[in-house]
Amino acid sequence: MRQAGRYLPEYRALRQKHSLLELCRQPDLAAEVTLLPVERLGVDAAILFADILLPFEPLGLGLTFAAGEGPQITRPIRRAAQAFELPPVDPVVDLGYVMQAARLAAQALPPDVPLIGFAGAPFTLASYAIEGGSTRNFVLTKRFMYSEPQAWHELMRRLAELVGGYLAAQARAGARALQLFDSWVGCLSPADYAAYVLPHSRRALALARQAAVPVIHFGTDTATLLADFVGAGGDVIGVDWRVPLDVAWERIGPGRGIQGNLDPVALLAPRAELERRVRDVLDRAAGRPGHIFNLGHGVLPETAVEALQAVVEWVHGG
Ligand code: CP3
Repeated sequence: MRQAGRYLPEYRALRQKHSLLELCRQPDLAAEVTLLPVERLGVDAAILFADILLPFEPLGLGLTFAAGEGPQITRPIRRAAQAFELPPVDPVVDLGYVMQAARLAAQALPPDVPLIGFAGAPFTLASYAIEGGSTRNFVLTKRFMYSEPQAWHELMRRLAELVGGYLAAQARAGARALQLFDSWVGCLSPADYAAYVLPHSRRALALARQAAVPVIHFGTDTATLLADFVGAGGDVIGVDWRVPLDVAWERIGPGRGIQGNLDPVALLAPRAELERRVRDVLDRAAGRPGHIFNLGHGVLPETAVEALQAVVEWVHGG
């Protein structure tokens, strides 16, 4: 959850010298950034330093990150025909630098700290591809989905094949778990999720699962979608803070792990309030096997390193 990000002074120092895309594209730097939070926080796993939008470059959509404005896609998908014209992408070749970063990070990590590989889910990727950047209401995405259903499903099919293969390739390069980020899927009604998204997420997760490592299926604002979201797959389901962990677990059912739940803004609260909230998540998990303590979404840049260190200590039993 952006554990290697701007809240870390070491990361900010590297960002003075290199753009975000440079850090991603240079495997030695990406591996170095991947290791930072393990060293600084003592977390139990490392997430590969990359971005879900990197596949947009080989897809020909064009990707830049403007300071303070988030991602910008230079050639967004606005016409149905574009979905059919996307070039084929071979993740091992076209995103080879990500595999190389995974190999380097996996080798450099202590043996008891697994590397997590990741990719964006078809819906979240499609939303960036169509909107051309971040959005609040997903108006262009939903309009495309409702008015061009054939092109929508073609786009989603292609993205599912791409990210499924990309995830499996990261596992072959050394990732010991994989995470599919469907960060913005909570903007959909349960019926739209089932009709327009579920089959494609299911395909991506099934392809990833062929690599025989555990797969985490993450989304935010999924409380009302959980039954179908879980139905799409995932050995572990990632949930945000809008649903209590025990309630989410009840909906997810037996046989799956669960991750997440702490509101990243809780890290900005006074220490006693933060501790109360961390212990509440742990109490709701009640020591059940399959619980992975995590934030419900990305660490905010204004977070103090000491607050995260305290959380790790409490979770580890301090
Ligand atoms: O430590 C880690 O979590 C691994 C690295 C990672 C990044 N992005 C690096 C990054 C991961 C897992 C992501 C995933 C990602 N990227 C998602 C899914 C997870 C989520 O947060 O919902 C999404 C939607 C993106 C797209 C993206 N990348 C956005 C919207 C932004 C801008 C956000 C902002 O706060 O400015 C990014 C930039 C980005 N990717 C940063 C990092 C560390 C921060 C920007 C920077 O360093 O300049």
